[in-house]
Amino acid sequence: MLQVVILAAGQGKRMRSALPKVLQPLGGRTMLHHVIGAAQALAPQRIVVVVGHGAQAVRQRFANSGLVWAAQAQQLGTGHAVQQALPALSPDGVVLVLYGDVPRIRAETLRTLVDEAAPGALALLTQEVEDATGYGRIVRDTAGGVAAIVEDRDATDAQKALREINTGMLAAPARKLSGWLAAVSNANAQGEYYLTDIVSAAVAEGYPVATCHPHTETECLGVNSKLELARLERLLQMDHAKALLDAGVTLADPARLDVRGELSCGRDVSIDVNCLFEGRVVLGDGVRIGANCILKDATVGAGTEVLPFSLIEEASIGERARIGPYARIRPGTTLANEVHIGNFVEVKASQLGEASKANHLAYIGDSQVGARVNIGAGTITCNYDGAHKHRTVIEDDVHIGSDVQLVAPVTVGRGATVGAGATITKDVPPGELTVTEKKQVTRAGWKRPKK
Ligand code: UD1
Ligand code: CA
Repeated sequence: MLQVVILAAGQGKRMRSALPKVLQPLGGRTMLHHVIGAAQALAPQRIVVVVGHGAQAVRQRFANSGLVWAAQAQQLGTGHAVQQALPALSPDGVVLVLYGDVPRIRAETLRTLVDEAAPGALALLTQEVEDATGYGRIVRDTAGGVAAIVEDRDATDAQKALREINTGMLAAPARKLSGWLAAVSNANAQGEYYLTDIVSAAVAEGYPVATCHPHTETECLGVNSKLELARLERLLQMDHAKALLDAGVTLADPARLDVRGELSCGRDVSIDVNCLFEGRVVLGDGVRIGANCILKDATVGAGTEVLPFSLIEEASIGERARIGPYARIRPGTTLANEVHIGNFVEVKASQLGEASKANHLAYIGDSQVGARVNIGAGTITCNYDGAHKHRTVIEDDVHIGSDVQLVAPVTVGRGATVGAGATITKDVPPGELTVTEKKQVTRAGWKRPKK
């Protein structure tokens, strides 16, 4: 049986932010979200999160997610923090301790750690690093066994020279952990109850202390500042880019891609520079995304091309369509196959049927547009009367000229043609040409005013 404790009570002063540290975003999700994800991959019986600074905000963010909360009112040290979780833990099985600000930790590494502890050992996740400054050092005896962890501030010069560091993450049988913690004191340089002091307690009673190492070099990096957060963000984005390249996606530049959520791609997808994908985005076979596009919670069908500087949000786009450049597709939009949406066209909460086109400068909102419809430049649906939104219906094979206003609610019948510049306030009959006539007048002899 496995239980997980995640320490997330620290303030993160160096972030200089009102947002609790573990709620800072990494890859579009909170840091804590990433840690919980790694923990959940091990299918633990429960996950207890120790909260203190910003506890309210953290709990709110993860309401109804099945987590157990433990409060640590004062941050008296990592040992004290784990102690606050003990009442919520069953004394059986193994407890795995994680940090809410070490977000890139991988489930496979945690599995190794838990497997080390399960037969009856205190298992530590340690790592050799170039610069161990600030970390707790793993002190080993002459036989190579772990003797203790010494915190940076309590270390002698000889201990400071040690390069094997404590990542902080560990696993141990629950019963042993609570016994050792009860005996931890705060007689040290920081006046804190150190979780790391349980190591010497275990050694003193001859209990096995095992070590294992992370699968990747950077997964144990913690975040204490915005600079460290930014570094981790780039590492995470490079992971996304590598996974996409491995899957056969063409990326113009793997360093200029941001995925804040999940991006899944079919075969032969290509993505130009500076694109941002948020939420859940699905790109079909052969989709091409131009430079500087933003797609959020969107589906794009096979063979569709999205040209540069387009923004697509909560929308579904069919196959072989062409979107942009400079198109804005807003939530609630469904575009069928072969639809063309051109530059400076905004579409909101509308459905467009197969092969319909709005190639320039248009606003289509709250509209149901049939197949093979052509919408001219400058045409807008006037869907809002200041209080309510109304729907516009444009049936199949309609041709709307340039600069037309369609004042909703209104229906344009199948096959109708609407002349340029019309202001349509009543339903348009099918198959006919409808215009609203404006007289062209020339005033002979008129003189331009002079300055
Ligand atoms: C800790 C380890 C150190 C290790 C390092 C790795 C101890 C005593 N030291 O040091 O050996 O090398 O992590 O980064 O454990 N926290 C609480 N409540 C507290 C104190 C901390 O929830 O009272 C949380 C923090 O929010 C953070 C984590 O525990 O997520 C680690 O705390 P931090 O103060 O950063 O530990 P270090 O001093 O870096
Ligand atoms: Ca500390």
